[in-house]
Amino acid sequence: MISFEGRVAIVTGAGGGLGRAYALELARRGAKVVVNDLGAARDGTGHSDAAVAVVEEIRCAGGSAMANGASVTEYDQVEAMVAETRAEYGGLHILINNAGILRDKSFAKMDMADFRAVVDVHLIGSANATRAVWETMRAQNYGRVLMTSSSTGLYGNFGQANYGAAKLGLAGLMKTLAIEGARDNIKVNTIAPTAATRMTEALFPPEMLALFKPELVAPAALFLVSEDAPTGAILGAGAGVVQAAYVTLTRGVKLPEATPEAVAENWAAIIDRTGEIVPQSGAEQTMTILQRLQGG
Ligand code: NAI
Repeated sequence: MISFEGRVAIVTGAGGGLGRAYALELARRGAKVVVNDLGAARDGTGHSDAAVAVVEEIRCAGGSAMANGASVTEYDQVEAMVAETRAEYGGLHILINNAGILRDKSFAKMDMADFRAVVDVHLIGSANATRAVWETMRAQNYGRVLMTSSSTGLYGNFGQANYGAAKLGLAGLMKTLAIEGARDNIKVNTIAPTAATRMTEALFPPEMLALFKPELVAPAALFLVSEDAPTGAILGAGAGVVQAAYVTLTRGVKLPEATPEAVAENWAAIIDRTGEIVPQSGAEQTMTILQRLQGG
């Protein structure tokens, strides 16, 4: 049984959808949960007290939770949330960066203000919250952080250039924080969920809405912030299916001559996936180049 007894968790954007499902399950398993949400509409505009309703649900089920209305885009507000969490609950062990918005349009029609707004909430918002908890986690030699990516970030989707840029940025942020956090027992992972929420309700046909319940993503998210979590993992999760995604590297080719023509001529060998690896750090890619030069 994976327990969160004695743990304190912040879940951003937990006033509905996936964040609500994570918050409810963390609380059911003993965590004290800060339900953060400014209660925005899908495009990030407006406010509501969505977080308060989720806190009520948790308390009615016998759990501990408090609501917080900070916008993750505002560092001061996030810092105040962290201070309030520590004062109220005496610690802070888990951060799930889940808050998000959509401003979908083809890139040809996309206003840069909509590009920035989406990057600001997903990428800068997650960096803000993580920065605000980082020192606490380092000092206590314990921390679990989850980033929320997306199939769009990992693989692309028409009309979501802003969202995809932010979402793959989160996987990149996670990769370096997993390395930097290792010596302080801070584990950092990424989830790419698929769930029927207000974000996807217009995209999914009715039979898919029924299959892709947010509660069916929660097991993967909770495992990734548990005591025995891995670090640096990217999991896909939806409808009870859990997958692992990797950024791989092919063996590659030492060009016979350094020309674009040589790249063209060797294309098939360059992209051949036989013997590809998953480097554990950027330096490992450089090492493989050196090995290639030595004929390895
Ligand atoms: P949702 O719209 O129900 O949840 C997002 C929440 O974030 C909302 O409650 C919203 O008020 C809150 N929020 C927005 N801006 C905020 C801000 N500045 N500060 C604090 N809270 C803010 O949608 P859903 O689907 O639950 O999304 C959760 C996360 O999962 C998002 O990061 C989303 O991009 C990601 N995701 C969801 C997928 C899906 O299939 N539903 C697919 C891939 C990723």
